[in-house]
Amino acid sequence: MAQRVLVLNGPNLNMLGIREPQTYGSQTLADIEAATIAEGTRLGLVVECRQSNHEGELVTWIQQALGSADAIVINAGAYSHTSLAIHDALRAVALPVIEVHLSNIYAREAFRHHSHISAVARGVICGLGATGYRLALHALAETL
Ligand code: DQA
Repeated sequence: MAQRVLVLNGPNLNMLGIREPQTYGSQTLADIEAATIAEGTRLGLVVECRQSNHEGELVTWIQQALGSADAIVINAGAYSHTSLAIHDALRAVALPVIEVHLSNIYAREAFRHHSHISAVARGVICGLGATGYRLALHALAETL
C-alpha cells in the first residue's frame, strides 16, 4: 500500500508569495503544495497538505496522524522556535518526521537558531526554499 505523508505548515506560511519574498521566495503556499503533491505522486506517496496559524490545531493534526499517516513533514514556522506542545505531540506519535524550513535559520537572527522540532526529527532541511519539501519526500520514500 502507498505510504501516506502529512505535510504541515505553521503560522504565516499562508502568506508566502506576499511575505518577505527576498527571504521566502515568490511562490505561494498553494504553488508549493501542488509541487509537493506532484512529487509525492511520482515517488508513489500519498501526500496531504495542511496549514494552520494555530498551535493547538497543529497539535491536534499531529495526534490524528497516528493511524492515518506514515510520516510527517513539518515547517512549524515560528512555532519551531517556541512550541514545546508541538515537540511533545511529535514525540507522542513517534512517526518519522522531517523538519523543513524555506530559509537557512542558522544564517538569520539568533532567536531562529534553535528549533524544538529538530530533537524529534529524523532529519532537518533548511535554506533550500520550496525544494526542501520535495527533498523531504525523497528522504521518506527511501527510508519508509
Ligand atoms: C521558517 C523560519 C522561521 O524562523 C520563521 O518564523 C517562519 C518560516 C522558514 O520556513 O524559513 O515562519 O520556518
